[in-house]
Amino acid sequence: MDELTSEERFLNACWQKPVDRTPVWFMRQAGRYMSEYRAMRANHTLLELCARPELAAEVTLQPVQRLGVDAAILFADILLPLVPMGIHLEFTTGEGPVIHNPIQGSAEVTALRPVEPRESLASVLETLRIVRRELDGKVALIGFAGAPFTLASYLIEGGPSRSYLKTKRLMLEDPLTWRQLMDKLARVIADYLAAQVEAGAQAVQLFDSWVGALSPDDYREYVLPYTRTIFQALEQSGVPSIHFGTGTASLLPLMQEAGGRVIGIDWQTPLDAAWELLEYRTAVQGNLDPAALFAPEPELAKRVERVLRKAGGRPGHIFNLGHGILPETPVDNVKRVVELVHENGFSGQKP
Ligand code: CP3
Repeated sequence: MDELTSEERFLNACWQKPVDRTPVWFMRQAGRYMSEYRAMRANHTLLELCARPELAAEVTLQPVQRLGVDAAILFADILLPLVPMGIHLEFTTGEGPVIHNPIQGSAEVTALRPVEPRESLASVLETLRIVRRELDGKVALIGFAGAPFTLASYLIEGGPSRSYLKTKRLMLEDPLTWRQLMDKLARVIADYLAAQVEAGAQAVQLFDSWVGALSPDDYREYVLPYTRTIFQALEQSGVPSIHFGTGTASLLPLMQEAGGRVIGIDWQTPLDAAWELLEYRTAVQGNLDPAALFAPEPELAKRVERVLRKAGGRPGHIFNLGHGILPETPVDNVKRVVELVHENGFSGQKP
């Protein structure tokens, strides 16, 4: 097969078409493990970087230049759309995101404002336009948003959580308010993602990072309908969508039912078993353990090879981690993974 561009390689894999080499990118590929990023963060807060398109575009492009990945992911954060909804968001050092006016009940849900992303998130859309121009048809550009459950969990908990007890209590004690909240979030996200596609995103990923906290029954009842609304709306845009979560071994078929051309697989689930469970009807993305990037080279290479072997040369595998890159990760190891995947990964034909 002729050599493809990175853009073709990534998009083909999303549509389960053959590729010359397995495409690879990394969740959180822009960030603190990179000295270029730390240098920019020394002068700007995270929210400043996100709000200034020329800076956000530069950060988005850093891993493309340094690592040779097949896709760029917009530099932004899943929590940004909550700000125009009326949420006071702050990123604190050490503790992560803090929401100063968390949702406690129906009054706060009613007060959430609808969002016109082309106005209040215009800077994010401008970042996409700049990056798309810079990538010049060579490397694919991925947009993203948080999924309703994961966003609701931050809104209700006020920050990260282990048990998601406040979230689950609202769901169980006041299902009507829960449904109003999920419905509002789904509308905002669907519109925001449509605007990202208009601005140049060639694929979009929906991050439902914390949905693994739920049982399949609760997922089906309290989450699936809202996530499905978003994927259905996206179908009109014509771009492939990626549906990602962690702790999802028992949720994968339901996530597939909710939607997504590509399903993200966490590292606790063997890729071959996950894909079989999905009956090969969607592409898969994953699933190296982010901690494997700390292993010595021979061990790292073995683990990369193991993921590729489990993908079995089937069309529709996008190599990634099972979750985001950790802040202390050695950059050279990340770069080595890109080389290893490009040297050894294939799909749709025997090498
Ligand atoms: O390179 C990329 O992947 C694109 C940029 C990106 C960021 N956040 C920038 C960021 C993306 C895709 C996200 C998504 C995101 N944000 C998720 C879903 C992905 C996942 O990891 O499950 C979640 C849950 C968030 C919320 C969030 N933002 C948390 C929990 C934190 C603090 C934890 C941490 O890593 O510090 C953030 C901050 C954040 N968002 C950073 C970056 C690069 C850390 C940066 C910094 O302080 O400079």
